[in-house]
Amino acid sequence: MANDSNDNDKNKPRGMKKGLANYGDQGFSLFLRKAFIKGAGFTDNALDRPVIGIANTGSGFNPCHGNAPQLIEAVKRGVMLAGGLPVDFPTISIHESFSTPTSMYLRNLMSMDTEEMVRAQPMDAVVLIGGCDKTVPAQLMGAASANIPAIQLITGSMLTGAHRGERVGACTDCRRYWGKFRADEIDGEEIAAVNNQLVASVGTCSVMGTASTMACIAEALGMTVPGGASPPAVTADRIRVAEQTGAQAVQMALDGLTIDKILTPASFENAMRVLLAIGGSTNGIIHLTAIAGRLGIDIDLAGLDRMGRETPVLLDLKPSGQHYMEDFHHAGGMATLLRELKPLLRLEAMTVSGRTLGEEIDRYDAPFEQDVVRKFADPIYPQGGIAVLRGNLAPGGAIIKQSAAHPKLMEHEGRAVVFENSEDMANRIDSDDLDVTADDILVLKNIGPKGAPGMPEAGYIPIPKKLARAGVKDIVRISDGRMSGTAFGTIVLHVTPEAAIGGPLAYVQTGDRIRLSVANREISLQVTDEELARRAAAQPVIPPTAERGYRKLFLQSVTQADQGVDFDFLRAVRTTGKAPE
Ligand code: FES
Repeated sequence: MANDSNDNDKNKPRGMKKGLANYGDQGFSLFLRKAFIKGAGFTDNALDRPVIGIANTGSGFNPCHGNAPQLIEAVKRGVMLAGGLPVDFPTISIHESFSTPTSMYLRNLMSMDTEEMVRAQPMDAVVLIGGCDKTVPAQLMGAASANIPAIQLITGSMLTGAHRGERVGACTDCRRYWGKFRADEIDGEEIAAVNNQLVASVGTCSVMGTASTMACIAEALGMTVPGGASPPAVTADRIRVAEQTGAQAVQMALDGLTIDKILTPASFENAMRVLLAIGGSTNGIIHLTAIAGRLGIDIDLAGLDRMGRETPVLLDLKPSGQHYMEDFHHAGGMATLLRELKPLLRLEAMTVSGRTLGEEIDRYDAPFEQDVVRKFADPIYPQGGIAVLRGNLAPGGAIIKQSAAHPKLMEHEGRAVVFENSEDMANRIDSDDLDVTADDILVLKNIGPKGAPGMPEAGYIPIPKKLARAGVKDIVRISDGRMSGTAFGTIVLHVTPEAAIGGPLAYVQTGDRIRLSVANREISLQVTDEELARRAAAQPVIPPTAERGYRKLFLQSVTQADQGVDFDFLRAVRTTGKAPE
């Protein structure tokens, strides 16, 4: 047991009697609590029911959660139909475009908020409403540490729009059109017109970015009701899922189905399998590592790479393929995918329904003809979307999303063109004086967990303008940062250890030769150890610090990418297992 609470204990106080404030007189504490909540008009009959907390992450700054009011209403309906008392409460909400310096900087804060409010308030189960990239991982991390019955409700993807007859959606098409604008292929008027169409409704990004990845992963982990990943935000299906989620939460509370019974090495293995098969966001690995760490489970990157060699990409969604999330939903969603992946799954893994994943797959409706989820024998890409690289440039590992990379560049040696940090890159990348060719390798330092800080999604280094104008569409890029799941290109990410703490990346210089071989899982700097040591001694790296506040906590405590970029003190105290086993 990784955590210090277990709601399966039948003698523990439940509902409103749970976690009473400590005045030295428990009877008085309950008397006082009831008096206050009755001020909101509740009856004793209502207050005797199992209490289902609903983490309300609606926010005017988070359009990806813009349907939160409707979802909460439906969850409440489901809870009450099943005999429970729903109580919603606010937590932090994070949107990718409204979080400085980066949403990742705030993920751990949201996880702490979720954990502590779930612990502090009297609930027998919690419904976690999340959707935008960092929210689902933050909620699963927090709930895993709080270890009560918990169920994830995804807000759902946005609808797609259309620009001059062409279907568009955030955010792969955002990048594609911005690339055209940078290359002077379209003018200011057209890029403004596209801006109106990319996000056609509330909800999360409509391609296989991090939000969709985490939605699929949440279902693969067994943390959503069956079919909970794919319904778009504004559909009746999504609202029905919300109602089912509320009802299921009551059942979980009655059964004492705590999250540690669902999040096991087997379920993490299923999530890794799905991550590979959907061509999911590279961010998914970091988040899975962090969630698993809360339960003392290590994600084995070498194991992930082995799984990748036997797991084809089956989902034909952008950026690896051509469809959008709503198409995946129309194609049957995760039921279609999991049915196809069944021989590779750990079918004994438990789910929020109280049934195993294998039992759920056996209950799915009959398959039908569709063209979004490929057959195992006819994949969109023969191997898993993500490969794990090692070498003297990344002793702790690095990753590449090979399904979104250019096949020709995956075996490449080139001259490093180095940017010391994001500011240096912004100042020089579009200069006509930049000494760069399409055969070079762009290296960006100091965008790792401590470097930026918060490991921003700046690993998608733009093609230098002079190359873009010449028609170059891809170039090898390397950094210690992350990349949006909606991005594409031959991009090496999560180089560990990062430059800001003195990883080898810190000492790369323009003109060095770098070799990338995805086939050999290699990322190496053609510079001797002696020369690297000489450079380190000549200009030692001093890790960043801060004087106060959350930034101080962050810089003191954040771990590297291979540890999930969680805070070291939030991981479970003891290691309990690893995935894959
Ligand atoms: Fe929220 Fe993409 S910005 S999911």
